[in-house]
Amino acid sequence: MKKITIILSCIILFTTSCNSSKETKKGEKTTTSKYVTESHSYAQPNAAVVKHLNLNITVDFDQEVISGSANYSIENNNATEIILDSKFLDIQKTEADGKETKFALGEFDKHLGQALKITITPETKNITVYYKTTNKTEALQWLKPQQTADKKHPFLFTQGQAILTRTWIPIQDSPQIRVTYEATVKAPTGLMAVMSAENPKEKTKNGLYHFKMEQPISPYLIALAVGDVEYKAISNRTGVYAEKSMLAKVHTEFSDMEKMVTTAEGLYGNYAWEQFDVIVLPPSFPFGGMENPRLTFATPTVIAGDKSLTSLVAHELAHSWSGNLVTNATWDDFWLNEGFTVYFEIRIMEALYGKERAEMLALIGRQDLEDELISFKDSPNDTKLKLDLKDRNPDDGMNSIAYDKGYLFLRTLEQTVGREKLDAFLKNYFNSHSFSTMHTEKFVTYLNNNLLDKYNITFNTNEWVYKPGIPSNQAKIESDKFKNVELTLQDVLKNNSANTEATKEWTPQEWVHFIRNFPKNMEIKHFEMLDNTYNLTNSTNSYISMVWFEQAILHNYRGHDIDDKIEQFLCNVGRRWYVTTIFKAYVKSSKKEEAINIYKKSRANYHSVTSNTIDNLLNYSQ
Ligand code: BES
Ligand code: ZN
Repeated sequence: MKKITIILSCIILFTTSCNSSKETKKGEKTTTSKYVTESHSYAQPNAAVVKHLNLNITVDFDQEVISGSANYSIENNNATEIILDSKFLDIQKTEADGKETKFALGEFDKHLGQALKITITPETKNITVYYKTTNKTEALQWLKPQQTADKKHPFLFTQGQAILTRTWIPIQDSPQIRVTYEATVKAPTGLMAVMSAENPKEKTKNGLYHFKMEQPISPYLIALAVGDVEYKAISNRTGVYAEKSMLAKVHTEFSDMEKMVTTAEGLYGNYAWEQFDVIVLPPSFPFGGMENPRLTFATPTVIAGDKSLTSLVAHELAHSWSGNLVTNATWDDFWLNEGFTVYFEIRIMEALYGKERAEMLALIGRQDLEDELISFKDSPNDTKLKLDLKDRNPDDGMNSIAYDKGYLFLRTLEQTVGREKLDAFLKNYFNSHSFSTMHTEKFVTYLNNNLLDKYNITFNTNEWVYKPGIPSNQAKIESDKFKNVELTLQDVLKNNSANTEATKEWTPQEWVHFIRNFPKNMEIKHFEMLDNTYNLTNSTNSYISMVWFEQAILHNYRGHDIDDKIEQFLCNVGRRWYVTTIFKAYVKSSKKEEAINIYKKSRANYHSVTSNTIDNLLNYSQ
């Protein structure tokens, strides 16, 4: 009897301490649970949950295998098994409190992988999994020296978001779970290992590295890179890692990083992670950037030489609040990570470089959103902020809706309540939910209680969040610079002559806007004239190249050896957004055969995230 009372009061205490009765997504089942049900993890964290990871691994470049053990302290609610997520891992042995114990792997699902069920007792406090990665691993990309900047040493990096961490560490791979971690990594001598943790600034002689992440983070944020990189500080808490031949350029490009952190802190409160560094990876990295805590991973395609693409750093930095501190509870709530981050990013850019630059960024996003709405015209449910990605790859939610509709929601909210009130609200929001997770319903309640009802403001939040499309009260984004670009474009087309006076001072964003707005019926002679004047086929700005190549393909422009240039670009750069935009242009203009011929050559250079997307786009199977 006494025991039952204790258990009951524990449950009550547990429940009230996390407001869970209001948090529920699907009603009664979760009313007494801390964690919501979610469709992209097999874990049952309400029964037993991992709290601290001690990772001990060897990185073997010859075999292209990571092997070792993942040891966890667990919080055990009287469970007799603990379930981890695992995909394409070779599980060798499991232990509970140091003694070998049974495990079983569940049925394989192409997105989720397998449940790894480990037998424990209600008293178990600690488990260990001995494992190896396999050649099917999706998180890891093993690069040959030829794929790096310096071409001398191999390179390895991981990409965990959204559900790939389970392909290199057996773990409860749900964003609502948080772990602190420490790691011991054995790398080949001569290479440096870095993680989303406290990092070395020099190589060690024996290739052995120890890491500590003392703040609890979601599993998708555990990251590792191993390569011949060096560190150069920008300030006492910011700096860059890059290969030797890139280090100086990267350092100059990102020299405003300390100012960015200070500006961000001025907006929404102190930076919680002590150190903010960026590592510039080889060009096959599938994203622009990835906000791994303390160490953002970034593509070299943003090193333009003129700081024109550094809003990416502002974006990843902003995730230190929206995403890493307050984390989307499930991938259906992804807009809470990305929409808030785009808003925050643009605010940082505005504070540092002025309204004009910020409005250009916002307007580029607005056009991306318009394009995305068209691409989703047959699946309106995908244009809701709150998604339902059950039985789908959470990557399907990584599109302009979460980013740019999410931004537009906050921007419209700002216009409605005023910047001062929104800023105070956001600062409190981050502060009061730090190191915890957020789902859409909980956010809407918090918004009502702490902003809208508080000031008696009417706002159509539900329409924005739960309905498809863009509500009619959307904020209008305007840029005089872009209006000018549009006038110049009309003028250039009418006269078929470049206007070098008008374009003299253009920033890459203005060029991007100019090129993206070429009319459907633009003629080859216009492409030739522009290419002769501005040498756009050989632009050194990757963003300009991408949109120019896209238009060239759509309009069948073949001058200036552009076909070779496009092929080179696609064989070198693996950034999914760029690669997809270009391959889509081939498909859209009925040149799929050409696309497949290039893809046959470029595919081997891509990380699985990119090759999976392009395989689907081109219906390609190896
Ligand atoms: N967290 C994302 C990258 C991501 C999202 C990876 C979902 C896997 C699944 C990152 O912060 C991001 O948004 N990167 C953008 C750049 C940004 C400036 C819009 C990218 O990679 O293009
Ligand atoms: Zn982001």
